[in-house]
Amino acid sequence: MRISVIGCGYLGAVHAACMAELGHDVVGLDVDSAKIEKLARGVAPFHEEGLPELLERHVCKGLRFTTDPAEIADAQIHFIGVGTPQRQGHIAADMSYVDAAIATIIEHARTDDGPVLVAGKSTVPVGTAQRLSERLAGSGKQLLLAWNPEFLREGHAVADTLTPDRIVYGLPDDHDVGHVAKALLDECYAKPLAAGTPLIVANYPTAELVKVAANSFLATKISFINAMAELCDATGGDVTRLAEAIGHDDRIGSKFLQAGIGFGGGCLPKDIRAFMARAGELGVDQALTFLREVDAINLRRRDAAVELAEQAVQGRLVGKKVAVLGITFKPDTDDLRDSPALDIATRLWARGAELSIVDPAAGPELRRRRPDLSVPDTVDEAARGADVVMLLTPWREFLELDPAALITKVNTPNIIDGRNVLDPQRWAEAGWNYVGMGRRVSTW
Ligand code: UDX
Repeated sequence: MRISVIGCGYLGAVHAACMAELGHDVVGLDVDSAKIEKLARGVAPFHEEGLPELLERHVCKGLRFTTDPAEIADAQIHFIGVGTPQRQGHIAADMSYVDAAIATIIEHARTDDGPVLVAGKSTVPVGTAQRLSERLAGSGKQLLLAWNPEFLREGHAVADTLTPDRIVYGLPDDHDVGHVAKALLDECYAKPLAAGTPLIVANYPTAELVKVAANSFLATKISFINAMAELCDATGGDVTRLAEAIGHDDRIGSKFLQAGIGFGGGCLPKDIRAFMARAGELGVDQALTFLREVDAINLRRRDAAVELAEQAVQGRLVGKKVAVLGITFKPDTDDLRDSPALDIATRLWARGAELSIVDPAAGPELRRRRPDLSVPDTVDEAARGADVVMLLTPWREFLELDPAALITKVNTPNIIDGRNVLDPQRWAEAGWNYVGMGRRVSTW
């Protein structure tokens, strides 16, 4: 099929490359010329496993990237993959990029040969699809709308797109129109559907809600275990053992029960806030009051990490050297959006600590943004002379660190395990003062 993808960020660029991998003829459009220039050369503009290989395979052979909206004219499906960030000074989502994408499609899409589908992938406030479909209906062109939310996780985005765990179509109430939209999506996703991927067909609001409901559930699960970490801290318990024990109940499950400095990134924090804002507009804010608590628990984790660093140096951070291991919001990405690690590091900096930050993917970007910070290339350099070492993003190479070797580099052997991923016993035996988040060294 001929496909356009509007917006070539973490979502759109991966979606475009994966659509080419599924055998489609794809054009990706973005207003950011630096990003497009890289993609058009087959170079990934951000760190995402598997994306460089897909770009290498398909750019110039069925996959193009452009800043010229006229080039999307012939597509049979236009996917919208632009961002819906938190609005400045407000918890609601900024819809201006989605609205601009719709305007571009209305202006450039050619529909002389029959109906053309617009498929929204961006996370939007419920009610958006209905509003946009009315706009498309009034455009004078045969443009149909479906909402087809995306569930990809950064770091696993290629696999999540090529072999999704489910596909959701939000279709218009008019069945005849809906069937045309469904047939186009079925053709587009023929391969994953043939492989047995569950398909859920629903109306617009359900499809829009599925995405924010999923992210709210995940955020709630993380904040639940972080609340338990607070209890463990107050009582001497170990939240990792607690999570392991409750996770064996398959009604609960063990995933997303990793307590630590909490969630961040471009999705969970802003999605739960935008969801609360929308519930307020709909007059059902009470239904989501719990998300306020989820957000508050999450933000308290960052305060707790700052306090632990302060306690490690007897309350005086000024002039103390803190080595920060990992600055992205999670491993296997270079994404710094709403990163808890970056927030904590910035607060330590504001309290007078000398920071030395190492990150396997975001080092160059951090140096560009914060030339005042020390961002060495290796853990050994970062740890040299440190009074506190803080592991804030669980990159695999940090989990494999040898505590006996690292202790020879530091000034004082304080390790704060912000993700509860190190073996407390092993680090303590090597001479470190180990502090986890809701977890301390214990004999059991
Ligand atoms: C999320 C959703 O998982 C994905 O389905 C959706 O499409 C987009 O938002 P992503 O933002 O890539 O994906 O990150 P995710 O893997 O969900 O992690 C989010 C944050 O939660 C990270 O900061 C991570 O470190 C944190 N986290 C995750 C925990 O603190 N504990 C856990 O147990 C799991």
